Amino acid sequence: MELFDVYPLYDITPVKGEGCYVFDVSGKKYLDLYGGHAVISVGHAHPEYVKSIQEQAAKLGFYSNSIKNPLQQELADKLEKVSGVKDYSLFLCSSGAEANENALKVASFQTGKDRIIYFENAFHGRTSGVVAITDNESIKAPFNLGHKATKLAFNDTESLKNEIEKGDVAAVIFEVIQGVGGLDEAESEFYRSAAELCKENQVMLIADEVQSGYGRTGDFFAFQKHGIRPDIITMAKGMGNGFPIGGILTDNNIQPKYGMLGTTFGGNHLACSAGISVLDIIQNENLMENAAEVSEFVKAEATKIPEIKKIKGRGLMIGLEFDFEIAALRKEILFEHQIFTGASSNKKLLRILPPLNIKKEHFESFFSALKAALKDQNKNILTSSCPEASGDSASLRS
Ligand SMILES: Cc1ncc(COP(=O)(O)O)c(C=O)c1O
Repeated sequence: MELFDVYPLYDITPVKGEGCYVFDVSGKKYLDLYGGHAVISVGHAHPEYVKSIQEQAAKLGFYSNSIKNPLQQELADKLEKVSGVKDYSLFLCSSGAEANENALKVASFQTGKDRIIYFENAFHGRTSGVVAITDNESIKAPFNLGHKATKLAFNDTESLKNEIEKGDVAAVIFEVIQGVGGLDEAESEFYRSAAELCKENQVMLIADEVQSGYGRTGDFFAFQKHGIRPDIITMAKGMGNGFPIGGILTDNNIQPKYGMLGTTFGGNHLACSAGISVLDIIQNENLMENAAEVSEFVKAEATKIPEIKKIKGRGLMIGLEFDFEIAALRKEILFEHQIFTGASSNKKLLRILPPLNIKKEHFESFFSALKAALKDQNKNILTSSCPEASGDSASLRS
């Protein structure tokens, strides 16, 4: 049977991971500055993480959501403690799209309204409702176009106010720092005004922290820097370090009722053991502090490279913007220097999303490789035709 061919693939087959490295079938070692699309939070094959999943699998891997599973409460308690967010409730699911889909549904149940506001360059996933609020027409099927969704410019408070005051908006959803869109972040003032407008007009404010959450920015959630309190927070990628787990946090003012949400796999025993272990490691190894510290080093080093025109993002969610398209540069860094990095819909931006336990030394290797690659290729070669420059690169997926 053939695989349904939807992914353009690099000719690399990783078979093993360890910390910040992955190894391919021939034993070649790659430095992972992309964390498999921002998923690897505590490092590949972290021994404590492996142990907790192994032990749980040997005890009970799965049973349904119709029985008591104390691991879900343990995860919720730990999440409250490590994240510092209070007076929210946790619903568990299995992916980022599913988390956002559930967030939209809760918002619509809660407000009785049905229109969603999203922003230019947003990426919220590929399932029916969330692809409708993703700024990429090419991945929407006719079936997805039936939702009531309005796209606005990011950072434009006036148009947000106009739309919200029409009275039919259930939710405003935003990525605090845009991932796929290219690491843009609005001003604190914009997020605060959005929060106020939502409150005044009975609209739910949804922070999509699927990529920016779980310590990646040096704060547990990226919104925390802006002093706002979203009604709903969505999470996934870093939550299970590769084990599929996602979730939403709903403000305790939102009342649940039986049957309102549900899932077969969400919050299962194995997923919870992965999630609990990730939180323990983030806390015990001070990974948020590490993310903030290493980030300062990366930004300081990046400013010394004249070809880098702009440094975007926070913590270990970093974008290095050049004045040329980076597809060929990125390929050279991968195939000549064995370092994984990412791209975005901004073709001049190199995206860096490593495991949160990465050290400065790893970035020293990266900067040597980057300098060599920049020297190696002049700007003309970099901007010459390359299949990835067409926008179909593997890492544009998520
Ligand atoms: C901000 C954001 N939201 C949602 C998603 C969708 O997550 P998933 O691919 O797990 O469905 C992604 C994936 O890249 C994302 O970056």
